[in-house]
Amino acid sequence: MKVKKNFLWVLMLTLLTACNANSFKGTQKDDSSRYVIRTEVPARPAGQQDVLGLVTPALDTVRVGFIGLGMRGPGAVNRFTYIPGTRIVALCDLHPDRVEKAQTILDKAGLPRAAEYSGSEDAWKELCQRDDIDLVYIATDWKHHAEMMIYAMEQGKHVACEVPSATTLEEIWAVVNTAEKTQKHAMQLENCVYDFFELTTLNMAQQGVFGEVLHAEGAYIHNLKDYWESYEGDWRLQFNKEHRGDVYATHGMGPAAQIMDLHRGNKMNTLVSMDTKPVNIPEHLIEKRGMDRDSAYQFANGQHTMTMIRTENGKTIQIQHDVASPRPYSRMYQVTGTKGFANKYPEEGYALEAEMLDESVAPNHENLNAHSFVPEEVKNALMTKYKHRIHQELEEKAKEVGGHGGMDFIMDYRLVYCLRNGLPLDMDVYDLAEWCSLAELSRISIEHNSAAVEVPDFTRGGWNKIQGFRHAFVD
Ligand SMILES: NC(=O)c1ccc[n+]([C@@H]2O[C@H](COP(=O)([O-])OP(=O)(O)OC[C@H]3O[C@@H](n4cnc5c(N)ncnc54)[C@H](O)[C@@H]3O)[C@@H](O)[C@H]2O)c1
Repeated sequence: MKVKKNFLWVLMLTLLTACNANSFKGTQKDDSSRYVIRTEVPARPAGQQDVLGLVTPALDTVRVGFIGLGMRGPGAVNRFTYIPGTRIVALCDLHPDRVEKAQTILDKAGLPRAAEYSGSEDAWKELCQRDDIDLVYIATDWKHHAEMMIYAMEQGKHVACEVPSATTLEEIWAVVNTAEKTQKHAMQLENCVYDFFELTTLNMAQQGVFGEVLHAEGAYIHNLKDYWESYEGDWRLQFNKEHRGDVYATHGMGPAAQIMDLHRGNKMNTLVSMDTKPVNIPEHLIEKRGMDRDSAYQFANGQHTMTMIRTENGKTIQIQHDVASPRPYSRMYQVTGTKGFANKYPEEGYALEAEMLDESVAPNHENLNAHSFVPEEVKNALMTKYKHRIHQELEEKAKEVGGHGGMDFIMDYRLVYCLRNGLPLDMDVYDLAEWCSLAELSRISIEHNSAAVEVPDFTRGGWNKIQGFRHAFVD
């Protein structure tokens, strides 16, 4: 059995029998002779408490410092200029010209210029040390994320970090431990949970429209061929070259996890993964960069990676990753319930048992059957009826400000809203941990002939304390 050196902290990569034949609520029998690979769950340090439902003192103004102003960061700076109760205090990037460019966003918005940090690898630490910042907002490459989050929390700041916020189990546990030790918020900036179809569908699921949700799917299928050369220092392609497994799982995981109530009465138990060989990115390296064939094919990440997850409550999630094939963009997003079905890509639609529709949403009752999507007008009526409160309040503004059609603005707005009102954030550090953990857990599965791998309980026993995922509101 192969154990990577950088995985030494995992004490035992042993084959153990899966526990808990009683974990399913249905009549299915779980075969207790099933084998799983289990990674270490480090004991919670003495005196440290979980951050489930964490609330921190309400902030009148959220004073924010941004680190990372490449392709993604400036959009966040721009969005914050539209959010009441915020002050942009500091801006940081390796490159001074990127900081200057972000300053012009503030100029345009008629806001005072921010303090500048740049020119060295470590300038961001000075930003974190400021005593007039409440929130550090990170949009750098993946390898810096965990280190920056941990340092910022240790400096007494809340952190919000782009996806994926951590790339290994070791980083994830370090982020969880720091959040618990400091009792600071650590939110992963997963925007897809706020997209219009996903949030409406979540609301429908929470109102019981799909019966019991049994299965969800999600993905990141996006051909990055035209983008590879744009990342600072080639970090993204290099990361894919060096890492096998689903290295970018959070866009698919976020909406699936919320609808499955993960660590709010349900939890992921095991996963299995499989991938294809890599072809298109190695060929890109040969054609576009003149790399020799042998070096180009020293490429770890499979072209198409699939992961299947089984949860405590007898449900399943399927997640896919493909950033190389000539496919239309897709996050898949499918929800299968006992009474209905939702599908986002390539065609948005709902299929429902006729009994789940009422007069107010089903002007065309007779034409419905559960084997096809409901007609467009019924779908529209459903989406209006079940429009999420967040969208009712923010849709217009979100569409005006933009950012992936508005979901980025809603994400930032909700973060600020919860901080200003002393409410639990929509996404906590355990969401971050669970969604990011697919990277290393899927690699372990693939490297062990698609063996089942246990998903650690990052709450360390608290996954059942909160019942059901819900967004917090003041009233
Ligand atoms: N949620 C989404 O929809 C979405 C979309 C695009 C990108 N992203 C994420 O945003 C993050 C950034 O992606 P990007 O496309 O902007 O990459 P990028 O390479 O364009 O930008 C990264 C920036 O970080 C800066 N940086 C690197 N090290 C630094 C350091 N030590 N100190 C200060 N600045 C440093 C770089 O100079 C660069 O400007 C990634 O995590 C990516 O996955 C998310």
